[in-house]
Amino acid sequence: MSSSMSTGSIVELQRNSSKWSTIVESITKLERKIFPKHESLSKSFEDELRKKNCGLLYVEFDGDVAGYVMYSWPSSLSASISKLAVKENFRRRGYGEALLKAAIEKSRTRHVQRISLHVDPLRNPAVNLYKKLGFKVDNLIEGYYSSDRNAYRMYLDFHPQ
Ligand SMILES: CC(C)(COP(=O)(O)OP(=O)(O)OC[C@H]1O[C@@H](n2cnc3c(N)ncnc32)[C@H](O)[C@@H]1OP(=O)(O)O)[C@@H](O)C(=O)NCCC(=O)NCCS
Repeated sequence: MSSSMSTGSIVELQRNSSKWSTIVESITKLERKIFPKHESLSKSFEDELRKKNCGLLYVEFDGDVAGYVMYSWPSSLSASISKLAVKENFRRRGYGEALLKAAIEKSRTRHVQRISLHVDPLRNPAVNLYKKLGFKVDNLIEGYYSSDRNAYRMYLDFHPQ
């Protein structure tokens, strides 16, 4: 966990958690607020989350969600980060980095070789954070999010050859 993250703790959302619906509701709201429609999982968030190979970690702060990371491991070889976001008034406190590190550790324990993700190159804070933790840009995919919004495909290899 980042040393600058002095309060708030990272929690893994369990399928049978009594908090499930409260947490999903909070995150759906944040999705709607933070991401443009075509990039938002607000409608499908819960469906995604119920998938077998999908996990969610969130930062709990005073009983509320300050940030979250969603990840999945579609095969035994690779994992992907499908969402990472921190609530606006909680940014720059190390939560994003702590969440990403925790998701990387979760993936590492599943013995995948690679973690990949897509990010809009215009999202500077996110691109910087991914690079800080060792992700490399694979390629640029034009029109990924919408006709005029591209994506970097980025990856982190655990066992580079
Ligand atoms: C990206 C995001 C999750 C970062 O969360 P955060 O909690 O503010 O990040 P941290 O405080 O842990 O910062 C970690 C690193 O991220 C990068 N970073 C974060 N905010 C930044 C900013 N405003 N400008 C430039 N770099 C930034 C830096 O590399 C920083 O490391 P440093 O402190 O050593 O400079 C947050 O800005 C966010 O939710 N953005 C909107 C959603 C988004 O773009 N999600 C990713 C696409 S799915």
